[in-house]
Amino acid sequence: MNLKRRPRRLRSSENIRSLVRETHLNKSDFVKPLFVVNGENIREEISSMPENYHLSLDQLLIEAQRLVDIGIKAVILFGLPKYKDAEGSSAWQEDGIVQRAVRTLKKKLPGLFVITDVCLCQYTEHGHCGILAEGKIENDQTLKRLSKVALSHAEAGADMVAPSDMMDGRIAKIRETLDKAGHGDVSIMAYSAKYHSSFYGPFRDAAHSAPGQGDRSSYQMDIANAEEALRELELDIEEGADIIMVKPALSYLDIISRADQKFNYPIAAYSVSGEYAIIKAAAEKGWINEKAVALEMLCSIKRAGADIIITYWADKAVEWLEE
Ligand code: PBG
Repeated sequence: MNLKRRPRRLRSSENIRSLVRETHLNKSDFVKPLFVVNGENIREEISSMPENYHLSLDQLLIEAQRLVDIGIKAVILFGLPKYKDAEGSSAWQEDGIVQRAVRTLKKKLPGLFVITDVCLCQYTEHGHCGILAEGKIENDQTLKRLSKVALSHAEAGADMVAPSDMMDGRIAKIRETLDKAGHGDVSIMAYSAKYHSSFYGPFRDAAHSAPGQGDRSSYQMDIANAEEALRELELDIEEGADIIMVKPALSYLDIISRADQKFNYPIAAYSVSGEYAIIKAAAEKGWINEKAVALEMLCSIKRAGADIIITYWADKAVEWLEE
């Protein structure tokens, strides 16, 4: 055949394939989520998220040192507090679990970039991300609490705060609160397009944060909407977010891609617990190859346009990329 164009020419060897490869994963792409708990010498595997652990502060330090040694640049912290109450007050205590974790990390590993998840759901007895009044979320009352949480994290030395609550106006309120207190250097990564997804199930086991009654559909986004995601992303940029996030990642690659085309801002994608769990479970059964599938998935998230990938595979991915 007299074919002028033969795309297979550029696939004929690994050398030429690597020359024309468009997307490369790097160890600097990944943020590793860590779950911190009170107590000592605790390193308990989370059953729904194999190879991820509940860590007491002493173990957190060991784990963080290991991450630094393999080249991970950043972690995001989730706390399991000592107590829960109606307004989530354990989320903003100076000696709260996340605040102590941040101080410990910044003291011993000052080079590690520490991000904190800012939310109330692990800290409220009803498990919602906001304050309730007669069963309804009080948006503006919630903002006051969230900004206290963010401020307490900044005071502990967090480099970046990441509000995951999906209340209206929280980025503006947190930015204003941080700036007034002299923390203009602390950046904000907004969980901007956070969907009301069923992929968070394993995380809620890990963080003990499932809502007791009702669900999160009055604040997290309808899974069917894309235009709305662009509005949410835009609002968070206007309110002062430094980085905008799409969450989950794999089922929302279209949103990542549209966000990348539309906004001139760093985009983070959160590859959530359910995305991790399905691959882990299938791999355990021998039905898929964990390494190959996980790397393919992470590559697709980056190819879609994400600059930062928050993933439970962060450390594994770094090791795999070096093999
Ligand atoms: C807290 C929060 C959640 C996740 C991150 N921050 C859970 C939720 O909204 O229910 C999910 C992370 C994951 O599933 O890996 N608001």
